[in-house]
Amino acid sequence: MAHNNKQVHRDLKQGHLGRLLVATVGLPGRGKSLLARRICRYLNYTRNNCKVFDISEYRRKHYDHYDSHEMFKEDNRPAWEVRQLSFQEALNDAVDWLLEDDRCANSAIDLNCIQVAILDGPNVCRRQRQIILDQTHAAGVQLLFIECVCEDSLLLEMHFKSILAHSVDYRHMPIEMALEDLRAKMDHYEEQYETPSIGQRAENACSTVKLLDDGYGGVLAHGVTGVQCLILGYIATPKPLQQTLYFSRHGESEFNVLGRIGGDAGLSPRGAKYAEVLSNHLKALNLQNLQIWTSTLKRTKATVAHMNVPKKHFHALDELYSGQCEACSYEELLELHPKELAMRDADKLQYRYPQGESYVDVMTRLMPVLQQLETENNVLVVGHQAVLRCVLAYFLGTPAEDIPYMKVPLHTLIKLTLRGYEYTMETVKMPVDCVDTNRCKPMNCDVTRSKDEVLKTIPQHFDSLVQL
Ligand code: F6P
Repeated sequence: MAHNNKQVHRDLKQGHLGRLLVATVGLPGRGKSLLARRICRYLNYTRNNCKVFDISEYRRKHYDHYDSHEMFKEDNRPAWEVRQLSFQEALNDAVDWLLEDDRCANSAIDLNCIQVAILDGPNVCRRQRQIILDQTHAAGVQLLFIECVCEDSLLLEMHFKSILAHSVDYRHMPIEMALEDLRAKMDHYEEQYETPSIGQRAENACSTVKLLDDGYGGVLAHGVTGVQCLILGYIATPKPLQQTLYFSRHGESEFNVLGRIGGDAGLSPRGAKYAEVLSNHLKALNLQNLQIWTSTLKRTKATVAHMNVPKKHFHALDELYSGQCEACSYEELLELHPKELAMRDADKLQYRYPQGESYVDVMTRLMPVLQQLETENNVLVVGHQAVLRCVLAYFLGTPAEDIPYMKVPLHTLIKLTLRGYEYTMETVKMPVDCVDTNRCKPMNCDVTRSKDEVLKTIPQHFDSLVQL
């Protein structure tokens, strides 16, 4: 793909350091794909642009179904050629994607936005890694190898179980047969494995990270610079292979009843009822080592008041601060600050309330809590509409533009479970009535729009607390 002048100019502005290919290295069942997806979600959430190119998905395009480990034998020439072709196709697509102009849509917001393509595959042979090196060098993009080494038998067993439960290859194979097949596949790769040498004296001294036992055994790194440090910092903290997290908004607050935003109101009578119901529901789940994290606001603390488990309260979990508009209703915003409301509707992700915050601000301030949360299990986070949209988006990999419109209703318990490489979401609506606080994106965001058009988008609420 041609590298045009406009792009070269922008690359110079960004130091040409903003395009990086990360190639994983490792035997099957070493956590490469989960790591690749996690890095991808992390980078996209932090306003960068990342995409995973999974070599096995390219291989599956050439075979309509998976037969057996035989295809991974070094002397199986026809299968070797297909695997080589799949590797080359994934690499070509990854490099092309990195060179695509204007790929980094986020750069309009943040000039430091980086583009990262992750080539997810075993890449166990030196010869293969040389091809990656030559191609990235010719394209002028950076390269970082991440080798995943896992020797801890317990972790290996967990990785294997996860592959057997979630891999497309084993979808139709009986479990015993699949396990045998996976072991045989690993043996074939082991025969071909050439560990990347690391350090200045390595044959092709390039940036390399060696992650030992999913990071629990430590990290070795050499030649990691610039944007690569961001990735190194992220993967250096070990993260569990099995994880379940729970989320809930606070019980309905007095401000929710009145359709007012922000503030530090207490719970409505229905909100207080939800606090009881939620507590009983959690008790019945009997979760091991449950912890509760809330914001520092009254309504989240009151929601967990009946729960006798360790609690932490974080300012970072406080609701999006609406500055001069705190305690207003959307109707009042329309009357008093119609321009502000229109600007927010036009770009809800980046719009910052006067003296207040934007969604991007909230996403940024949440980072330390998210990074801690990603290492935990069985935490119930009790938060707020905007904050939980951002938190859930981090784990679900939701595109940034969609975050301000995610549905996170009141009186609903949300459960995220890591299954394979992705999180799945389940919800339980508790049987306690509440208002709906979700406002859809209006069709017309122009300041000249009629008031009636805006009013149609505002969720219903009560005018006074006694009406409840
Ligand atoms: O309405 C409840 C609430 O938590 C407000 O306090 C907050 O300003 C709002 O939701 C955030 O939602 P949105 O970004 O959709 O206005």
